[in-house]
Amino acid sequence: MDDHTTDHTLEVAVAALQAGRRTTTRLTDAADAELTVQHSPLMSPLVWDLAHVGQQEELWLLQQGAGVERTPVFHPTIACLYDAAEHPRASRTQLPLLDPRESRRAVADVRNRVLDRVARVRAQDPQQAAFAVAMVAQHEHQHDETMFATHNLRSGDPLLAAAPTPPGRVVPAEPVLVPAGEFLLGVDPVQEPWALDNEHPQHRVHVPAFRIGRVPVTNGEWAAFVDDGGYEDPRHWTRAGWAHRREAGIVAPLGWSRDGAGGWTQRRFAVEVALDPAAPVQHVDCHEAEAFARWAGARLPTEVEWEKACAWDPVLGRRRRWPWGQEAPTADRANLGGHALGPAQVGAYPAGASAYGVEQLMGDVWEWTSSDFAPWPGFSPMLYDTYSAPFFGGGYRVLRGGSWASTPVSVRPSFRNWDWPVRRQIFTGLRLAWDA
Ligand SMILES: [Fe+2]
Repeated sequence: MDDHTTDHTLEVAVAALQAGRRTTTRLTDAADAELTVQHSPLMSPLVWDLAHVGQQEELWLLQQGAGVERTPVFHPTIACLYDAAEHPRASRTQLPLLDPRESRRAVADVRNRVLDRVARVRAQDPQQAAFAVAMVAQHEHQHDETMFATHNLRSGDPLLAAAPTPPGRVVPAEPVLVPAGEFLLGVDPVQEPWALDNEHPQHRVHVPAFRIGRVPVTNGEWAAFVDDGGYEDPRHWTRAGWAHRREAGIVAPLGWSRDGAGGWTQRRFAVEVALDPAAPVQHVDCHEAEAFARWAGARLPTEVEWEKACAWDPVLGRRRRWPWGQEAPTADRANLGGHALGPAQVGAYPAGASAYGVEQLMGDVWEWTSSDFAPWPGFSPMLYDTYSAPFFGGGYRVLRGGSWASTPVSVRPSFRNWDWPVRRQIFTGLRLAWDA
C-alpha cells in the first residue's frame, strides 16, 4: 500500500483551511449591500455563509474536547442564527444576522484562536486534530462553492475574472466499456484519512458490465435535444419530472436564451455569453438529465458505476487515489479550484483519464446519478454527526465528481454530494450510461 498519509498532516490541513479562507475573502469582498441582499430564494445572503463558516469552525474546533476557553466569539443567541437546519435559506435575510463588518471580524477572531489552539494541540493527537481541521476546511470549501453559485445568480457587477482552461479535443464518440466484476467501493481511513463519514466503510461490490460516456454531455448535444422537441415530449420524462417541468415552466437549462440567430446564449456571472457547444452542459436538474438520457437511448449511471469507472484500476486490482493515479490534481488533469468560472471543453484533460479511459470525472460539472442518497453498509457518523445521517433516504439524488468550483480539498473519487432532483442553480451536468 502506498503511503498517502504524508499528504494528511496537521500542517497540510491548516494550509487547506487557509486556502479556503482566501477564496471566502475573494467571494465576500463585494459591497456590503450585495452581501446582505437575497439574490435568490434558493441561496443564503452571502453574509450568512460568511459568518456560518466561522460559527461552524468555532463549534467543531474550539468547543470540542478539552480546553474550551474564554467566552465564545459567537454567543449562543447569535450562533443559533447560523444553524442551517433551523433556518431555511429563503428566510435568512429576516434574521438579526451579524452585519458584514461584524461577520468579517468574527470569522477572523475564530481563525486566530484556531491557529493558536492548533499550535498547542500539535503534540497531543496530531492525527485526530488533522482530521478535525480538514473536516472544517472541507466545510469552508463547500460553502465557497455555494457562494460561487450565489454570485452566478447576482445581477450586479461581476467581480470575478475567469482564468483560461486548456482547449478541448475530439474524443471518440463510443462509450467506454467497464466489464463486469468486483471492486472496492468507498475508502478506508488509511487510504483517505480526510474522507467524510458517508464515504465509509469500504466494501467489495460486484458491478454488472456497463458502458459510460467518455466525457460529460455537451451544450451542443443538449441543444439538439431542445431542437428535437425534447422538452415538449412527455415520453422522455418520468411522471415526476414531467409534472415539475410543466409547473416550473422549464424549456431549457437555467440561464439559456435564444440569440436571435438560431443559437443560444447563457447568462453566467451577470454576463450573457455565447453558448460553447463543446463545453459540458451545466445548470440542468436531475429530471432534465433523465429526460435527455432517455431521449438519447441511455440512462444515468448509478453512483457505484460512476465510482468504479473513476477510481478502479482493473489491471492492478486496486483503487487509484485520483482517476489518473496517485498524484495530486494539476491544471492539466482537472478543472478544479474556482478559477475558470465554468467548465472546460470536453477533451481538455486527456492526462486526467481514469484507468478505463473515462475523462473529466473530477471537476467541470457535478454529474447527476440515478442513486438515492443512502448509507454504505456499516455506516457510522463522524464528529460532525449530522453531516450525512439526517439526509439519508430523504428523497435526495447523489451527484459525483465536483465542479470547476470545487477544490481538491472538497472532492475526491469517493466524495458523495446530494441534492433535491429539482435543483439546478448549482453547477450540475451529466454523463450517460448504458447496460452492456
Ligand atoms: Fe454549512
